[in-house]
Amino acid sequence: EAAETIIVAIDGPAGSGKSSVSKQAARRLGYGYLDTGAAYRALAWHALQHGIDTSDAASVLDVSGDFEYAISLDPDEYWVRVGQTDVTDAIRDPQVSDAVSGVARVPAVRESVNALFRALVAQSGRPGVVVEGRDITTVVAPDAPVRILLTAAPEVRAARRSAELTTQDAAAVAAALHQRDASDSAVVDFLTAAPGVEVVDSTHLDFDQTVDAVLGVIEAALPAP
Ligand code: DC
Repeated sequence: EAAETIIVAIDGPAGSGKSSVSKQAARRLGYGYLDTGAAYRALAWHALQHGIDTSDAASVLDVSGDFEYAISLDPDEYWVRVGQTDVTDAIRDPQVSDAVSGVARVPAVRESVNALFRALVAQSGRPGVVVEGRDITTVVAPDAPVRILLTAAPEVRAARRSAELTTQDAAAVAAALHQRDASDSAVVDFLTAAPGVEVVDSTHLDFDQTVDAVLGVIEAALPAP
């Protein structure tokens, strides 16, 4: 029987460096990388394509019925598809970011994507998978051998986000990020570490230092291979 896939669970808010750090940690470990936020974004994109009001739970649930979603677990070749359409870039559009909280708020949606995440991890074919999101340490994989909350001060997170999105003005980016934090926090508390979850605060760390801090936590928690 094949050994169980090791899960490294990483939660945190937008702009904490979570995605890029998780991806890099996965590369260094030879693990897969699963961006769970991309599933919510892909469903939000799909709902917008259908002209659905994503603040209406019944409509979201309705449109999620024919939602077919695929995501790469390869940190070096990251893509997201809905049906035959590559939505890797489209799911980062501000319209999707604004709509995604409505989708993520629907409990039945969360249950079905969580089932998909567990299946993807089990079938990854890798020794381990770095799974990042908002509720990985608490709901998706509460028994993971490594659980990390990656945080950063709100001003620093907003500054990082606006550096990524060069087309938008910084104040608008900060406002949108804080707005999304507020509506996301109503669904999952991703700003407080659950018992047993290690906090890595990246406020005063650059990218490489944050990766090293995260790998340090992972190496301390896992027996040497
Ligand atoms: O990490 P992100 O910005 O791509 O996440 C997109 C949205 O999905 C975000 O508004 C919160 C939600 N989300 C969630 O509710 N649970 C997760 N595990 C991951 C993301």
